[in-house]
Amino acid sequence: MDAENEQQNATPDTADAAATKSAVSRRAVIGWAGAGVALGAAAVGSVAAATRQDDPAPAAAAPAGAEVPFYGEHQAGIATPVQDRLHFAAFDVSEKATRESLVKLLKEWTKAAAAMTGGREVGTGAATGLPEAPPDDTGEALGLPASRLTLTIGFGPSLFEKSAPDGQMVDRFGLKAKRPEALIDLPGFKGDKLDPTRSGGDICVQACADDPQVAVHAIRNLARIGMGTVNIRWSQLGFGKTSSTTPDAQTPRNLMGFKDGTHNIAGTDTAKLADHVWAAPGDGPEWMTGGSYLVARRIRMHIETWDRTSLKEQEDVFGRTKGEGAPYGKAKEHDAPDLKAMPADSHVALAHPDANSGLMILRRGFSFTDGTDGLGRLDAGLFFLAYQRDSRKAFVPLQTRLASSDKLNEYIQHVGSAHFACPAGVRKPGEWWGQALFG
Ligand code: HEM
Repeated sequence: MDAENEQQNATPDTADAAATKSAVSRRAVIGWAGAGVALGAAAVGSVAAATRQDDPAPAAAAPAGAEVPFYGEHQAGIATPVQDRLHFAAFDVSEKATRESLVKLLKEWTKAAAAMTGGREVGTGAATGLPEAPPDDTGEALGLPASRLTLTIGFGPSLFEKSAPDGQMVDRFGLKAKRPEALIDLPGFKGDKLDPTRSGGDICVQACADDPQVAVHAIRNLARIGMGTVNIRWSQLGFGKTSSTTPDAQTPRNLMGFKDGTHNIAGTDTAKLADHVWAAPGDGPEWMTGGSYLVARRIRMHIETWDRTSLKEQEDVFGRTKGEGAPYGKAKEHDAPDLKAMPADSHVALAHPDANSGLMILRRGFSFTDGTDGLGRLDAGLFFLAYQRDSRKAFVPLQTRLASSDKLNEYIQHVGSAHFACPAGVRKPGEWWGQALFG
């Protein structure tokens, strides 16, 4: 669906729409303050009130191109052109939470997500609420535009069934019967060295934005709203998108210095998205139709070893040249690869659809560096994110193949893993994240 249609889907027709429209615009508040108006707390309140009346529509709050529509058939953040930064969080639902408290939270989260992706403050804002109460918004995104923020939610296997300390599987929220068969517990793969504290999770939220402060603000505010109902299990910051879903954009490079995302599913290729990314009617439970399955893998790169490896060996690892990114035997990056011209154990020779009965995934990963590992080595790599219609038929066979033969394995290690079912989009104000699942 194109942006214009998504915008049309967002036609406000409920009470929530009024709330959405009236929410405080981050830029509008700063605009007034920046104009030299001396504002006490009470005065800010009246500025906000004035803004509420004058704000014509949410889209007007941000410069052109800076706002990605929140409402639509599919969740934003999947086929959306990849933003520069990522803050990804996996949450566990706390032991005391009930189905009712979880539903309440998902409704609150949806309102907050609609506001933040529209460049507006959460609730009554960061500086305009009751002076006696903590502000509804933490405030660090005040003055910043929407920055193409997208928030994408997914539900992990453990939300449907969790193993209790005695080993029994517990259906905490009455969702077991609604677990999609495709939402498997991912199998172990050869070479995995998974850290359980960086793996799994009941719910994930992927925040992507062109400004890291906007992405971090979004996750922080969702975590704050969720206090008592959910806790962050692990999170990952990412930069330097490592995949392009925009065919005409320059392909970004990963931390190994190679163009990454050359042959990916373009966010504009509706036929490929339908074939490989969006769950279709009949694929599984109805609530997942229009959604997608997300596999997240924290893949550490042995950067120091890689940096001492010859250029020839580096190129052999991928079967592509480092400078141009051209497949072996060809001149240009986007020339069709000749798999026979590449080493048989090169990454592209093994991962290309022609070598895998046509299977494709939508890659949307980011680089990460999280300091050093205590042994003087960078803790850096690729936070791999892949969306697909059915992970059993896509990521699992592909990774099984790569894990057993990929020349790249000498230089990488998978250290975190998670799997989530990301439902279809919230179509209009008043609907909420997970409504079809819990409804
Ligand atoms: C740190 C780990 C990884 C690195 C550095 C990496 C890097 C690359 C590079 C440089 C390319 C070639 C350019 C392109 O077409 O995008 C590529 C392609 C690809 N990679 Fe990876 N990759 C990694 C992990 C994975 C994993 C775990 C999977 C899936 C299980 C995967 C699946 C693919 C696919 C499907 C392609 C496209 C092949 C084609 O159609 O020609 N990659 N990767």
